[in-house]
Amino acid sequence: MASIYITRKIPESGLEMIKKKFGKFDINQENRVLTKSELIKNVKNRDGILCLLTDSIDKEIIDAMGNTCKIISNYAVGFNNIDVEYASKRKKMVTNTPGVLTDATSDLAISLLFSCARRIVESDEFTRTGKYKGWDPMLLLGQEVTGKTLGIIGAGRIGTVVAQKLARGFNMKIIYDDRSNNFDLEKSTNAKRVDLPTLLKNSDFISVHVSLNKDNHDLLSKKEFNMMKRTCVFINTSRGEVVDEKALVNALKEKKIFAAGLDVYESEPRLANGLTRLDNVIIVPHIGSATVRARTLMATMAAQNLIDGLQGKIPKYCVNKDRL
Ligand code: GLV
Ligand code: GLV
Repeated sequence: MASIYITRKIPESGLEMIKKKFGKFDINQENRVLTKSELIKNVKNRDGILCLLTDSIDKEIIDAMGNTCKIISNYAVGFNNIDVEYASKRKKMVTNTPGVLTDATSDLAISLLFSCARRIVESDEFTRTGKYKGWDPMLLLGQEVTGKTLGIIGAGRIGTVVAQKLARGFNMKIIYDDRSNNFDLEKSTNAKRVDLPTLLKNSDFISVHVSLNKDNHDLLSKKEFNMMKRTCVFINTSRGEVVDEKALVNALKEKKIFAAGLDVYESEPRLANGLTRLDNVIIVPHIGSATVRARTLMATMAAQNLIDGLQGKIPKYCVNKDRL
C-alpha cells in the first residue's frame, strides 16, 4: 500500500479519491502551514506527497523524501514553491493544477480592476462611517474602464482570459508583453504584442499574469512604475515577487499611478511597510482561486495527479516530464 502524506486539509472531493484508491493517507490535521522540521519529519519514506504553495519544497525537503517518493503533487497552478530542477534530478515527478482556476482568477483580477477604477472599497468605507452627506459633483471620482487600453504582462491561460473578457464585455483595447506571440489572443481580441516599456507607457490598466521564475523577480520596479500613466490602475494576481513592493508603495504614495489592486505579496503573509495606510490600494489575501468550484476541481486534479504518479503513469499535468 502506498504511503502518502498531505501537508494540509484540501476539499473532500480530492481526499475521497485518494482514500478510495489507496485506503488511507496521513495528513496535517491542523489548519496551519507546517514548519520546515515538521515537513522534513513527515515526508520521510513516503511514496507520494500532496503539498500546497505555502510549503517551500527545497533541496533539504526533497532529500528528506529519500528515494521512495515518486511524486510531488502541488495543489496550485504555480509551482515556484518547489525546486523543480532538484526534484527532477532526484527523479520525482512534480504536478500542478492548471486550467480549473483560470475563470476564478481572471474574475478576481477583473473585480480588483473595477474596484480600483471606481474606488469601491474607499466608497464603502466612506458611506459606512457616515461621511455621505448627499450627492456631490466631485465625490470619489474614478477612472472609466470601457474602451480603455489594457496591458497584459504574461499572456498565458489566465492573462488571455482576462483580456478576452474585458475586450468582449468592455470594448477594451489589448496590448500584451510575452516571450512569444499568442495568436489565439490576437485573433480573439485584436491584441498587439509590444515590448514592456511600450506597454507601461500606453496602458490605462495593467494586469500581471506571469509565472514566477528566476529571471522575473522585481520585473516591475521604480523605473517601470515611473513609466506608467498617472491615471494607471495596476493589478497583480500572479506572484508578489515579480513586483518590487517598496517601489510600488512609493509610487502609490506619490500618486505616480492612480491605484493598485493586489492579491499577492513579496513575502506572504507579510505586507510591505506602509501598504495598509494607503487608500489607493485594495489588498486581498491571495484569493484568486478561492471559489468553491475552482478549489473543488483543484482538489480532484491534484488527487488524480498523485494517483497516476503512484500507479506508475506520467500524470497529465506533470511539469517536469521532459527532465526526468
Ligand atoms: C495560486 O496562486 C496558484 O498558483 O494556484
Ligand atoms: C456620483 O455618484 C459621484 O460619484 O460623484
